[in-house]
Amino acid sequence: MPTLAELERDALACARCPLSRGRTNVVFGVGDPNADIMFVGEGPGQQEDLKGEPFVGRSGQLLDRLMAEEIGIGRDEVYIANVVKCRPPGNRDPMPDEIASCRPFLEQQIDVIGPKVIVTLGNFASKLLLDTTEGITKLRGKVYPYRDRVIVPTYHPSAALRGGGGAVLAGMRADFVRAKEQLA
Ligand code: URA
Repeated sequence: MPTLAELERDALACARCPLSRGRTNVVFGVGDPNADIMFVGEGPGQQEDLKGEPFVGRSGQLLDRLMAEEIGIGRDEVYIANVVKCRPPGNRDPMPDEIASCRPFLEQQIDVIGPKVIVTLGNFASKLLLDTTEGITKLRGKVYPYRDRVIVPTYHPSAALRGGGGAVLAGMRADFVRAKEQLA
């Protein structure tokens, strides 16, 4: 198995898909390489692309807050990555071929880090790792086996920021508690 540093080095040089041509930085992932819990988002936005770090914008602030309030952990104690490691232009959705090109990086990150629990944030991460076309509203609220660990799918923080009458945020809080229970 490669080390996380070797994987990151490969990702930093990656030109497997067209997203590589528009990036400022590859956003490989951050956090504890031995984390018990890993969060997987969709792809870098503008601020993440500029900084080379996932979830540093408004969605990231909400993610940090929910981790602290519902799980009692900080960003340094978890690992955070995305489905695609380079920013889709204009924050459009990542395309199927881009997701397919980047997928081995995420799968190897999961294998190397070996978290007990993976929280998938939103449709892209949830559908990819659960290998389903079912949407996040149907998927969330349950715990799914994934190899010898579990996946807890939840909404993307940007969905909570867009509103939804508080129901999305309440659902996320419940899912984060669900993830914490799996850590015990
Ligand atoms: N949204 C994501 O899905 N990932 C990030 O890193 C930032 C925003």
